[in-house]
Amino acid sequence: MSSFVWDSPISIVAYVITAIAVFLSIFKYYLYITLGKITSSRNMEGKTVIVTGANSGIGKETARDLAKRGARVIMACRNMETAAKARDEIVAESNNQNIIVRHVDMSSLASVRAFANEILCTEAVIDVLIHNAGVAEGLISKVTSDGLEFTLATNYYGPFLLTHLLINMLKKSDQGRIIVVSSKLYRYANVKRDLSNINPTNSQFNAPTKLYNLSKFMEIMFTQELARRLQGTRVTANCLHPGVIDTGIWRNIPFPLNLVFKPIQWCFRTPEEGSRTTVYLTVAPEVQQISGKYFRGCKVTEINQRVQNIETQGKLWEASRTLVKLREEDPMI
Ligand SMILES: NC(=O)c1ccc[n+]([C@@H]2O[C@H](COP(=O)([O-])OP(=O)(O)OC[C@H]3O[C@@H](n4cnc5c(N)ncnc54)[C@H](OP(=O)(O)O)[C@@H]3O)[C@@H](O)[C@H]2O)c1
Repeated sequence: MSSFVWDSPISIVAYVITAIAVFLSIFKYYLYITLGKITSSRNMEGKTVIVTGANSGIGKETARDLAKRGARVIMACRNMETAAKARDEIVAESNNQNIIVRHVDMSSLASVRAFANEILCTEAVIDVLIHNAGVAEGLISKVTSDGLEFTLATNYYGPFLLTHLLINMLKKSDQGRIIVVSSKLYRYANVKRDLSNINPTNSQFNAPTKLYNLSKFMEIMFTQELARRLQGTRVTANCLHPGVIDTGIWRNIPFPLNLVFKPIQWCFRTPEEGSRTTVYLTVAPEVQQISGKYFRGCKVTEINQRVQNIETQGKLWEASRTLVKLREEDPMI
């Protein structure tokens, strides 16, 4: 019977490489079998979908899939150069000319308002609003010209305002859907009951991902409160975790962590795989009546109790209304 022989550095290196290769192969297989599947081949002709952050990563793949299904896709992006390139690529591949690029900087309340006004002037109805744009900053916290913490402004306050400004367009749809791309990293955050942490502009340095995790926590609270407020309308609101995906979201990982991280990224899912749950929530007929849920791998998934606290969700909503400077003439939800 043969046995391991640790007799030379070469054999040790060979064993280590084999062990890593076996581990990575098993991990890749696990990712494959847990990947969500979209069974619906629904044609989306006649439907108008807004995808924020559609110039790269998960958003671009979401736009690509919906374009192939015939939807009118509004790519809401801050970088018009990469957005135009992405649009041209999607049009060429899908043969769908009904793909439009519009400018929005989700971290700026004025830009969100300008974008919403443009939509109100050019569109008759919005069927699906996909809040996909997101940032994960490194250690430094920034403050926007609106006095909001930058990561929270982009990931949470911008979408909160945009949802209000477009809600009446969504209500015009036969079945409006609002989809929020959150993250399972919400688990490492909390919104304190006194809301002392919902606009942390004083702390200049933060632990990596602290603000990101908080923004994802707030997104889930927002989705659930929104779903409750939309009861009795034809509009639903759901959120999701897309998986761990190899995209630009990891670009701000600080040195030297980024050196270790690069090879690990090889194991992550592709942006197309990351778009599946978003596309599923956009097209699947079986989710038509589902609202206020968190999805992962195209399935409803349980979330922890802390994020589901109804009282804190209500308080967060009211405080957010003030922070995004909602006006009397703006739609109420
Ligand atoms: N990748 C993952 O493993 C993972 C896991 C969980 C959740 N998510 C979530 O998935 C969503 C998509 O991210 P991704 O992974 O596809 O990363 P990505 O490739 O970096 O895409 C993020 C998109 O958001 C856009 N964006 C960022 N700030 C913006 C702003 N102020 N205004 C307008 N657009 C802005 C980016 O535009 P620019 O090109 O101009 O930067 C980009 O198009 C994010 O909400 C992220 O939090 C990702």
